Amino acid sequence: MGICINSMGLYGMNAYPVQVEADTLRALPSFDIVGLPDASVKESRDRVRIALKNCGYEFPATKITVNLAPADVKKSGPLYDVPIFLAMLCITGQLACGDLSDSAFLGELSLDGSVRPVNGVLPMAIEAKKNGTASLFVPQENAAEASLVSGLNVYGVENASQLIAHLLGHRLLTPTLPEAGSEESTDAFLDFADVKGQTAAKRALEIAAAGSHNALMIGPPGSGKSMLAKRLPSILPDMTFEESMEVTQLYSVAGLLGQDSGLVKTRPFRAPHHTVSPAGLSGGGSIPRPGEVSLAHHGVLFLDELPEFSRSAMEILRQPVEDGTVTISRASGTLSYPCSIMLIAAMNPCPCGYFGHPTRPCTCTPNQVTRYLSKVSGPLLDRLDLHIDVQPVEFESLSSTQKAESSTEIKKRVDAARKIQNHRFAGSGIVSNSRIPAAKLSEFCPMDLSAQKLLKSAFEKLGLSARAYDRIMKVARTIADLDGSETISNAHIAEAIQYRSLDRKYWQR
Ligand SMILES: Nc1ncnc2c1ncn2[C@@H]1O[C@H](COP(=O)(O)OP(=O)(O)O)[C@@H](O)[C@H]1O
Ligand SMILES: [Mg+2]
Ligand SMILES: [Zn+2]
Repeated sequence: MGICINSMGLYGMNAYPVQVEADTLRALPSFDIVGLPDASVKESRDRVRIALKNCGYEFPATKITVNLAPADVKKSGPLYDVPIFLAMLCITGQLACGDLSDSAFLGELSLDGSVRPVNGVLPMAIEAKKNGTASLFVPQENAAEASLVSGLNVYGVENASQLIAHLLGHRLLTPTLPEAGSEESTDAFLDFADVKGQTAAKRALEIAAAGSHNALMIGPPGSGKSMLAKRLPSILPDMTFEESMEVTQLYSVAGLLGQDSGLVKTRPFRAPHHTVSPAGLSGGGSIPRPGEVSLAHHGVLFLDELPEFSRSAMEILRQPVEDGTVTISRASGTLSYPCSIMLIAAMNPCPCGYFGHPTRPCTCTPNQVTRYLSKVSGPLLDRLDLHIDVQPVEFESLSSTQKAESSTEIKKRVDAARKIQNHRFAGSGIVSNSRIPAAKLSEFCPMDLSAQKLLKSAFEKLGLSARAYDRIMKVARTIADLDGSETISNAHIAEAIQYRSLDRKYWQR
């Protein structure tokens, strides 16, 4: 009689149930795993064999076949060690435990029988619950994330003996309860109060945060661009529970959840180095892991020194930034990860950094400046709603002892503007002003007469593109929301146009 132990599998973010079936034949001793296991699953054989011996059990001297069902889906990773271990014990009559049909097991085994953490436990726990699993046994380090799923008994397991003692009813494990609302990340945010002067740049970032707009900061070295960007998460609205769950699942799949960590509550801020590969940005590997764009989901992807990034890295960002999801194709199929992000980029205007500086001369040739700027492609530039001219900090502001406005104050205004947007877009599937589809612009962005006139004349005088028009409308919408105004006025339009004027200062000299 064969044995069947429930487990789970994962492809991208998609979890599915897996049955670990074992059967034995009186034949020459052998141990095979079938059911599309990859190399990492096949290694389970050796770990399970040695762990059994080290835990004081016999390894059967018969022909053993383990089948991972469904057999037509590729299985990957070491998470089947624990269910295979249990199947071995049951099939050989060394463990007589009761009915396990409403329990599922996952975890990697060390040779000494201790259970090691695996990736993607949260999405698997969610699916296990949906699938009618009552009890889920996971590695102790993953118990906190699994316990986020309500209505599921989660048992954190440290080693095989502990698990067996529980299954035999000798010494019961206590289910892991979700952490009681404790703030898991208390690292004090960097605060905008640390940045002296730079009121214009701060205002622009407030608008970006309020409407979830992408932005580019250009300015000389040392003007505080990196400093400003790092403070952006401190003024973004708090994540909703659903957003937190999505982010936590992505970090779970990527293996980046800290040990014993539960729900991720702070918005991600990812700042990959400019040497990052295109796959590092979009996601990669034979079973692709989430890349930086997805790790920044519901948060900020910061590209510092933008022209230093490879052309291919910038190109690969375009579609995900536009769509909010990234699709990765592999021979084994396609999978997608969400990446609803704010893209924030920073750059110097030229190799020496002082092109356009009010007092310091630029030592670059015009050709060098052009070549440097042209590294940022037009299409990418177009996708950045706000172009922010970061001026050098003046000595007076740096030496001033006056405290600048704190992030908490700025965040209040951002929150208010987001509230207006939530109300406006309720039920429409749109999440922020930056995501208003072109066809809905006139509906959601009513302008008064003076605003219409100003926009028309700006178009004629500045020769703006159709894309620039859309961006100006969306940014003006956010500026009006910050102002608490339903109708967009000419002052709102004028400010929005100002954030599209760097093209002319730098790219269209
Ligand atoms: N506005 C500012 N207020 C306070 N310190 C500043 C400001 N701008 C720059 N600094 C100081 O200069 C350093 C360099 O700033 P940084 O953000 O790296 O500039 P950038 O990225 O524009 O080259 C910061 O770490 C900070 O100490
Ligand atoms: Mg910098
Ligand atoms: Zn220069």
